[in-house]
Amino acid sequence: MTKDDHLTFRQFMLKEYREHGVSKDLIFLLEDIATACRTISHKIRSGAFAGTLGATDDTNVQGETQKELDVIANDQFMLHCANCSRVAALVSEELDNVIWLKDKAEAGDYIIYFDPLDGSSNLELNISVGSIFSIVELKEPLTELTDEAVLIPGSEQICAGYSLYGPSTSLVVTTGHGVNGFTHLAGSGEFLLTFPNMTVPAATNEFAINASRQKFWEPPVTRYIDECLAGPDGPRGKKFNMRWVASMVAEVHRILTRGGVFMYPRDSENASMGGRLRLLYETNPMAFIIEQAGGKASTGEGRMLDVQPTDLHQRIGVVLGSSEEVDLVESYHS
Ligand code: F6P
Ligand code: MN
Repeated sequence: MTKDDHLTFRQFMLKEYREHGVSKDLIFLLEDIATACRTISHKIRSGAFAGTLGATDDTNVQGETQKELDVIANDQFMLHCANCSRVAALVSEELDNVIWLKDKAEAGDYIIYFDPLDGSSNLELNISVGSIFSIVELKEPLTELTDEAVLIPGSEQICAGYSLYGPSTSLVVTTGHGVNGFTHLAGSGEFLLTFPNMTVPAATNEFAINASRQKFWEPPVTRYIDECLAGPDGPRGKKFNMRWVASMVAEVHRILTRGGVFMYPRDSENASMGGRLRLLYETNPMAFIIEQAGGKASTGEGRMLDVQPTDLHQRIGVVLGSSEEVDLVESYHS
C-alpha cells in the first residue's frame, strides 16, 4: 500500500485543497452529494422490496415516464445539495425549470446540474444505473434569476462526477486536476479511493453505439462504424469489439477503465430535438471527466465543452472516449 491507497473521500479532497486550492465549500458540497449517492444506491438495492423499480403515472419535461426511483433520487439530490450556502440554483433532468435557492446569485456561487438517475429504464433488469452531476461557479453576479441565466458552457465547470450503481457503488470525480474513482465500502458510510488517476488510452478497439438506429445515422457515422466492423481486412486494419449497456454512466466508467468510444449521435430521427442525450447534465459533465482523463468529447463537429447552451434541457449528439477515435469521427464529419 502507498500512503494514498484507500484514502477516504474527505482525506482525498483535503489533499486537493492543499495541493490545488480546491475550495472547502466545494469539498463540503461534494461530501453532501456523496451522501445523496450512497442513499440512492441503498434505495435502488431495496427497490424490489419497496416496489419502487417501476413507473409512476407522471412524465418529466422530456416527455419520458418517470420511475418511482427517478423521483426518489431527485429528492435526495435536492435535499443534500440545498445544504451549502454557496449553491444558488439547481437544474435537474426531472424538473421543468431552475430551482433558485437564493434571492441573489453572487460571483462565487454554484449552479448544480444533475441527472439524478441516468439509465433508469434498466432498473427492473438489475442492470447498472447512475447519477451524474456538474458544478459551475459563477464568475459574475447574475442580474436576473431566469432559466436563461444558467445556460453556461461546459468549459466553465469547476467539478463534475458520477456515481455508478453496479455490483459496487462507485463515485468518480474531477475538480479539474485529473479524475479519481472511489468505491463505497458497504457498511462504513465511506467512499474510499480505489481508482486514482483514471486515464483513457488514446487508442482502442471497442465502440459503443445503439446499432438499432443505423438507418437514421448520418453518413460519417455509418462510415466510421462500417470501417470498425470491417475488421483486420478493412481500412482500420484491426478487429473491433462492441458494447451497449444503454446506461451512459456504465459506458463512461468502462471507457475510463479500459478505453473505448461511446457515441449517441444526432441522427435523422432525433435531429429535430438536437440529439438524444442532454447537454447540461449528461454530456457536459461526462465531457469534462473524459477530457480530464486524457480523452476527448465532441458533438461530432466540435468540442462539447465549447457549446453555448440555448435551452435548459437541450439535447445534443455526442462522441466521447479515446482521442484517436473521436478525432477520426470528427474528421469524417468535416
Ligand atoms: O438518459 C439517457 C440514456 O438512458 C443513457 O444513459 C443511455 O446511454 C441511453 O439513454 C440509452 O439509449 P437507448 O434507449 O437508445 O439505448
Ligand atoms: Mn439520463
